[in-house]
Amino acid sequence: MTRLTLSHVIFLAGTTTGYTTLSDAALRQLSFPLSASSSSSTEFDPFTGSLLSPILVPRVPGTPGHAAVQAHFINYIKSNLSPDWVIEWHNSTSVTPATGDKLVPFQNLIIKREPPGITRDREHEVEWLTLAAHYDSLYRPEGFIGAVDSAVPCAILLWALKELDKAIGRKWEAWEDDGLEQAKGVQVVLFDGEEAWVQWSGEDSLYGSRALAEDWQNTKYQDGSSRLDTISLFVLLDLLGAVDPTVPSFFGKTHWAYQNMARVEQRLRDLGLLESTPKAGKFLHDTDRSNWNFGGYVEDDHVPFLRKGVDDILHIIPTPFPKVWHTMEDDAKNLDVGTVKDWAKIVTGFVGEWMDLEGHFEGVETGTEDEKGRYSEKDEL
Ligand SMILES: *[C@@H]1O[C@H](CO)[C@@H](O)[C@H](O)[C@H]1NC(C)=O
Ligand SMILES: [Zn+2]
Repeated sequence: MTRLTLSHVIFLAGTTTGYTTLSDAALRQLSFPLSASSSSSTEFDPFTGSLLSPILVPRVPGTPGHAAVQAHFINYIKSNLSPDWVIEWHNSTSVTPATGDKLVPFQNLIIKREPPGITRDREHEVEWLTLAAHYDSLYRPEGFIGAVDSAVPCAILLWALKELDKAIGRKWEAWEDDGLEQAKGVQVVLFDGEEAWVQWSGEDSLYGSRALAEDWQNTKYQDGSSRLDTISLFVLLDLLGAVDPTVPSFFGKTHWAYQNMARVEQRLRDLGLLESTPKAGKFLHDTDRSNWNFGGYVEDDHVPFLRKGVDDILHIIPTPFPKVWHTMEDDAKNLDVGTVKDWAKIVTGFVGEWMDLEGHFEGVETGTEDEKGRYSEKDEL
């Protein structure tokens, strides 16, 4: 039987909103590894960083550079994440207008960690926070790097998993399967074949995401729902890492999630934990909307999912696009490292809140039950 202790009541209050604010101490802790006083602060160095620099090479599907980056991802995951993360490949092939009859391989990489106690008959209950970016680079101009497009977003997502790995583990160790908790999992999808080979069109673009959306629509669970139905929120990062990004809120349905991410950014700035000083004051500037007439959206890897009914989408892409977009200048030297690290902290904070990780960071004073209760109350207002 369920013990209804005080902490349980608070916990339930938290799950009705499904989103728990992180304390200042937790935000400080997750930012620390990227601060100057940490020995791992160089992971995002574009020239020497162990995480980012190996991705900053041409990665055209089917080429050796592409395979080397795949190997780097796997190596990073295996050396930095606990073995509870499952690595899944989703491979397809397609012709492209640039390559004639030859079939080009497109290989999406999925890294996921399932909540505990999920048996096959309960797979449909898992709500996957789905974090995505594409890792392929443009076919032409030859030698194109795609640092913001989208090497940096891939690095940010892998870093977020590494940062939150232990806290997720601690949260789930303490988990009691009383049927009351939402089964929240987290998965990262690194898409292949986002770029067009000749000219952007319905057929020449989004090769990997079109194939994956199709496959997940056809992957059915015992209750008849599909793998697409288990996506609770689809967060797509693109074109991040250049100085002064301004990212609008694209979808009314997920504007609340945008606002939550913007709140994480503002709190990190107020705590002095971010390095950048963007001209607009912040990256996520579009929080206070008087009109709910959300305009168009930018075509990207979320579109095949949107077309199949996945409409909880948060697209984190600056408009206007960075000046270097689709030019040879989109390389290591034109990244703004402060901006890169700041995005990593913002995204990680958002995921930590979504996954309700408050109280599960080691060495963070979590305060009394009363204080925790106040966080939950604040969330409900
Ligand atoms: C899919 O592609 C990856 C990366 O090239 C490869 O390691 C894996 O073996 C492939 N899987 C299948 C089933 O072909
Ligand atoms: Zn691109």
